[in-house]
Amino acid sequence: MPNPRYGDSSCYLEVQGLRKTFIGRKRKVEAIKDISFCVAQGEMIGFLGPNGAGKTTTIKSVLGLVRPDSGTITVDGIDCAGNPREAAKRMAAVLEGARNTYWRLTVWENMQFFAGIHGVCAAKDKEYFEYLLETLRLQDKRNTEVRNLSSGYKQKTAVACALAKKTPLVFLDEPTLGLDVESSYELRAALKRLQSEEQRTIVVSSHDMNVIQDVCNRVIIISNGRVVADDSIDDLLSLFRTRNYKIVVSKNAYMQHPESLVTEISQGFSQADINETPDTVEIAVGFTNPFEIYDLIKTLSDFRVAIESITQEQVDLEKAFLEIVRRENGVCG
Ligand SMILES: Nc1ncnc2c1ncn2[C@@H]1O[C@H](COP(=O)(O)OP(=O)(O)O)[C@@H](O)[C@H]1O
Ligand SMILES: [Mg+2]
Repeated sequence: MPNPRYGDSSCYLEVQGLRKTFIGRKRKVEAIKDISFCVAQGEMIGFLGPNGAGKTTTIKSVLGLVRPDSGTITVDGIDCAGNPREAAKRMAAVLEGARNTYWRLTVWENMQFFAGIHGVCAAKDKEYFEYLLETLRLQDKRNTEVRNLSSGYKQKTAVACALAKKTPLVFLDEPTLGLDVESSYELRAALKRLQSEEQRTIVVSSHDMNVIQDVCNRVIIISNGRVVADDSIDDLLSLFRTRNYKIVVSKNAYMQHPESLVTEISQGFSQADINETPDTVEIAVGFTNPFEIYDLIKTLSDFRVAIESITQEQVDLEKAFLEIVRRENGVCG
């Protein structure tokens, strides 16, 4: 699906030219300098950025918890500044660093309470509440007070309460922060299931690219208060996909003169990094032209060496992300 553009009828959330400077007694912090993006109905997108990039401030601006200095925000075509109550009816959030639930109430009571505020009745929507408990694996904890739950269960309860409001738009700000590996995986699996079964519009923010790569199709990278990339994860990765190979050949019986192979390759492929072990020769090489690898294979074939493995270096979102942020901040090298 192509990225929705400003003014597209498919845009459920539309943010344009958002700016916010916090003015303290001692210093000013330009938390967001220029943020614009669109999210289509039913999309689950990721906000990725280092700590302090402006993700939470952007989310709080949309929720009406922070008043931006300039810019416009519309949700379902409703101007959030002009009609905040109508806009708020369409949104729910789990905020980073906030408790998000009442610790002296049980999981079920919390769901009832928070959904109730949004006019969703637990008695009428019991089936849906049960579905949320099951998807988030909270069934056994329904009658446990939240204060007695581990941090993973607390966070899942907060997500259940946000979803129980049945709003079309949901923000999850750093949902896996501080969770152990198992809870993080469980929550991510639940989000993927909910997304595929419900088609809600969900914005997930994280400074952890693994989380975003796992649950989202599209990522908006924020750095220093600006959007520095907005693309599908696949396209973003293909930008950074290199033709870097590592080829391992064995010094087999046919290969009489490994040293001449090393000489030949280092002369023919000046960019190659060659590492010899007693039994193998490892060649790490990056090509700009996709056909250059045939020349190398031909040289190896001339020497009658057995190729043990050829691997292509994989790019992950982490490398792409670090590279984008590095370029944006003007770091050379
Ligand atoms: N209420 C506030 N008062 C002053 N500075 C703030 C406030 N909230 C956020 N900031 C600052 O704004 C910048 C962006 O913060 P934030 O939006 O929380 O980033 P992120 O969520 O990407 O980590 C940071 O430098 C942060 O210290
Ligand atoms: Mg944050």
